Amino acid sequence: MKRFEKHIFVCENKRPKGHPKGCCQDKGSIEIRALFKKRLKELGLNPKVRANSSGCLDACEFGATVLVYPEQIWYGGVKLEDVEEIIQSHIINNKPVERLLIKEKRFWKDDNKT
Ligand code: FES
Repeated sequence: MKRFEKHIFVCENKRPKGHPKGCCQDKGSIEIRALFKKRLKELGLNPKVRANSSGCLDACEFGATVLVYPEQIWYGGVKLEDVEEIIQSHIINNKPVERLLIKEKRFWKDDNKT
């Protein structure tokens, strides 16, 4: 039996101000992860779905970056107001949120090309 049905990683990497790559923490990722955790708990999903912080996921230019396993779905430009849609559509109904997918090909898994 799998320990988690889905695992949500939210990049919380922090870089110094003015760094050319920027960082997800400056784009609200701490608050984004906190909201994921809060809503998963409120919806009773937290034993099976976990939201963890991660270090840099090497998608800095698309931050705030969120990665969902086991599907390996990469979301970019995620904002607080997107959290509920990701939970309702992807986490609960297994339909990734198309408009938030990172479009660059290196983030596509062979079987989830759109
Ligand atoms: S800083 Fe978030 S992906 Fe690199």
